[in-house]
Amino acid sequence: MSSGIVTSAYIAASILFILSLGGLSHQESSRRGNIYGMIGMAIAIAATIASGAVHAYTTIIVMMVIGAVIGAFVASRVEMTQMPQLVAMLHSFVGLAATFVGYATYLDHTIELSGAEKTIHDVEIYLGVLIGAVTFTGSVVAFGKLQGVIGSKPMLLPGRHFLNGAIGIACIWLGAVFLGAESTLGGFVPLFVMTLLALAFGVHMVMAIGGADMPVVISMLNSYSGWAAAATGFMLSNDLLIVTGALVGSSGAILSYIMCRAMNRRFVAVIMGGFGTTAAASGDGEAREHTATTVDEVAEMLNEASSVIIVPGYGMAVAHAQHPVSDLTRLLRERDVNVRFAIHPVAGRMPGHMNVLLAEAKVPYDIVLEMDEINEDFASTDVVIVIGANDTVNPSALDDPGSPIAGMPVLEVWNAKTVIVSKRSMAVGYAGVENPLFFHDNTRMLFGDAKDSVEQLVAALKA
Ligand code: TAP
Repeated sequence: MSSGIVTSAYIAASILFILSLGGLSHQESSRRGNIYGMIGMAIAIAATIASGAVHAYTTIIVMMVIGAVIGAFVASRVEMTQMPQLVAMLHSFVGLAATFVGYATYLDHTIELSGAEKTIHDVEIYLGVLIGAVTFTGSVVAFGKLQGVIGSKPMLLPGRHFLNGAIGIACIWLGAVFLGAESTLGGFVPLFVMTLLALAFGVHMVMAIGGADMPVVISMLNSYSGWAAAATGFMLSNDLLIVTGALVGSSGAILSYIMCRAMNRRFVAVIMGGFGTTAAASGDGEAREHTATTVDEVAEMLNEASSVIIVPGYGMAVAHAQHPVSDLTRLLRERDVNVRFAIHPVAGRMPGHMNVLLAEAKVPYDIVLEMDEINEDFASTDVVIVIGANDTVNPSALDDPGSPIAGMPVLEVWNAKTVIVSKRSMAVGYAGVENPLFFHDNTRMLFGDAKDSVEQLVAALKA
């Protein structure tokens, strides 16, 4: 295929990727965004294979079939709640691929460059391998933490900042040795030592980050994987890979920034780790009483209510309660109750988690509101139903400066006339922080699995 056609195909694919990202930013257009992305990727693969850059057609086709079968199998089985783990795992592949491509390019003797061109090429290799290796082990540890294989508490080595600094300086020095090397073997040794250090750094960095900061880590690794892909694009002189990598890298960085703001955390503080090591239980140590309620009592309250806000959280996702929640919404709306949903930016375990589940259960988009759009309205609301949410409705974020989540914006549900909290026990949420909301005078605890509770509630309301 002529290089002109390949370039046109690459431009078309780049535009489709940009349209895809734009589409994914709204629920109404997300399906379309996905389709743009799939078409863009199909064009990209076809153009790359046809460009003459690939010769081993059989290997490529066999590997694509194997990859597609595994991908389709995994994607069809994965639960919505396991999506972050899947994303972490996929990032690790990008990192590993960038590392391998770096080595393959370095050892490829058909590439003959000299002077500035060689230096630039070597810098690309070095950076590609460095970012790739950090992304690889960082993502594997993030996967382990999200899957529960590794504890979510931060693991802090003594003098860890010093250790990280030392690794950073060593990598810069090894880079200088690598660039100055006269022979392939002379460069291979510093490249290899740097790879080991980068792999160790990835583990160390993510091990030190606590559970509550994991969403930021995932989007940060997403960003790293993009930059690793862009570096691979430079190594392989593939413009599309550079553009795509930069899109992923920058969108991941922007998402990390948005999430840091949503959790009132500084990005650097997240990366430094250690969050969640302070004593988790906030409060004064006094034994406090909570008030339990029953499905019938809640049904009665809802019968009297004219405005209801539902606050979903991670528990709704694990309980698969979105469909009964949708039934409850429909029933109340039929009775002219003003029902709305309040979505915290980090509710659940990944950005947009709640929106996806509610959309899947056919809850109308226009009653699903973001935190900033609805936070003022709690005070004029009769009943708030918190379904499997905890950290995102914790008042100590606002009134206890000693709390590990101090300063994080939260949904101010306690301002409503009555708050119903549906969860199984008095256990803490993901950040491991006790929630004083459960002890407020206007809070009623509805214990039990969220799906069972809401199903019973729907039945009680119908009766
Ligand atoms: P959490 O604070 O984790 O609270 C979820 C609650 O759901 C738990 O307290 C649990 O209490 C309850 N629950 C679990 N299974 C349940 C079931 N089957 N039925 C009823 N309740 C159930 O959730 P949240 O309020 O959504 O806050 C999210 C947290 O996760 C934040 O700390 C956030 O930083 C973090 N996080 C967010 C993300 C993103 S990007 N969204 C990613 C990773 C982590 P019981 O055990 O008593 O039932």
